[in-house]
Amino acid sequence: MAKMTFIVRDGHSVEVDAPLGLSVLEIAHRNKIDLEGACEGSLACSTCHVIVESEWYDLLSTASEDEEDMLDLAFGLTHTSRLGCQIIMTEELDGLVVRLPAATRNMMV
Ligand code: FES
Repeated sequence: MAKMTFIVRDGHSVEVDAPLGLSVLEIAHRNKIDLEGACEGSLACSTCHVIVESEWYDLLSTASEDEEDMLDLAFGLTHTSRLGCQIIMTEELDGLVVRLPAATRNMMV
């Protein structure tokens, strides 16, 4: 079983099982990690924003234009920001580390 780590808002690292084919958002929800994902992966919000540790960022497939557009609206955008619902777990990503941003801006409410 692949693993991944979330660095949560209080700075703790939480290592969880990361079944291949699931998105980082789905993995977060399975493990009660506080990542919102208001639109459930349909690229209509930016509440699933995560900051990917730089050594992992280059291994991810490139963000689509739609993802880039949504990320532009994310609070606390960084150079290695991605939308958690768009990162799909693969064998290559075993060990992935992502950080939750300090806050999100929810446009869905
Ligand atoms: S859950 Fe809305 S864009 Fe990812």
